Amino acid sequence: MFFTFKGLPFFPETASTIAAHVDALYAFLVLISAFFSLLIAFLVVFFAVKYRKRSSGELPPDTNIAGHGAGLILEIVWTVIPLGLSMIMFVWGASIFFTESRPPADSMEIYVTGKQWMWKIQHMEGPREINELHIPVDRDIRLTMTSEDVIHDFFVPAFRTKADVLPGKYTTEWFRPTKIGQYHIFCAEYCGTKHSGMTGTVYVMNQDDYNAWLAAGSGEGSMAEQGQSLFNQLGCGNCHPSVINNNNGRCPNLHGLFGTSVDIKDGGRVRADESYIRESILYPDSKIVAGYDNIMPTFKGLISEEGMLKLVAYIRSLGPGSGTPTGAAPAAVQTSASAPQTPQQRRTNPQATTTPTGR
Ligand code: CUA
Repeated sequence: MFFTFKGLPFFPETASTIAAHVDALYAFLVLISAFFSLLIAFLVVFFAVKYRKRSSGELPPDTNIAGHGAGLILEIVWTVIPLGLSMIMFVWGASIFFTESRPPADSMEIYVTGKQWMWKIQHMEGPREINELHIPVDRDIRLTMTSEDVIHDFFVPAFRTKADVLPGKYTTEWFRPTKIGQYHIFCAEYCGTKHSGMTGTVYVMNQDDYNAWLAAGSGEGSMAEQGQSLFNQLGCGNCHPSVINNNNGRCPNLHGLFGTSVDIKDGGRVRADESYIRESILYPDSKIVAGYDNIMPTFKGLISEEGMLKLVAYIRSLGPGSGTPTGAAPAAVQTSASAPQTPQQRRTNPQATTTPTGR
């Protein structure tokens, strides 16, 4: 980028693709603010001196310039210039905001759980870590985050990105690291006594080192495998078929579900994404799939947030598709357009048009 704060010791490193853009906008805001602060301060002093009271009986001349001639031009100028400047700030800021809120579709998935006062991180391939995040350089990384207790905020200054981490829902954050190195993680939302200690380190590694790191920590199996054993442990499979063309008519088949659009009993459709799966496990009666009865018990209180993420990873692994990045083009929806439409068809062959994608 044309403007970075390289070399200035009071700025964090510039280690992601978005960082230079954020810095440039920030520099623009600082320069505009500094220019007008100095201009106004100078004019205050200048006018105070120039138009000071010179004798005790002096009356000010009539200087009402509003409404006509030079006054009108002056008013237009001091309206249009600030309007133009604030529109530049708005459009520039909004474009960075949109970039930061839309993870690329093929981003690498990592799951984050915030908890007073630590960050628990889980990789799809299995490894878990606490207050550390190992990632490869030059890859788009998408974090899906939730909290076990209160609001936290996952902040990596070197990447110039942060997002709130909320109990009861999933939020996302993405970045593409550009430099190998170690960077701070901070919690950027006051969350209790040890908020200031809720820190960690991002390790950006080259792809080979990252692969070696992954291989060393995959002892427990992938997240999807861990999710599958939890699925079996909780007895979900007693009702929900998870293989293609196996249907009992009581519970929706989970095969090929993730990322598709689902018809709801009371009308409407919902995207089968992380949030929907989580909601269906905790509040099964809130959005019942068309054609099925409300027979599922709630699993509220029985599954930890980390367990929930594993279940989501398992259901995701049943296909058909990739994730559903917040705000990104809904690539997976198209599969539902040709899917069976009536409940009866859905029961006999709920996802006929999808193909198995094991991983
Ligand atoms: Cu967690 Cu502040």
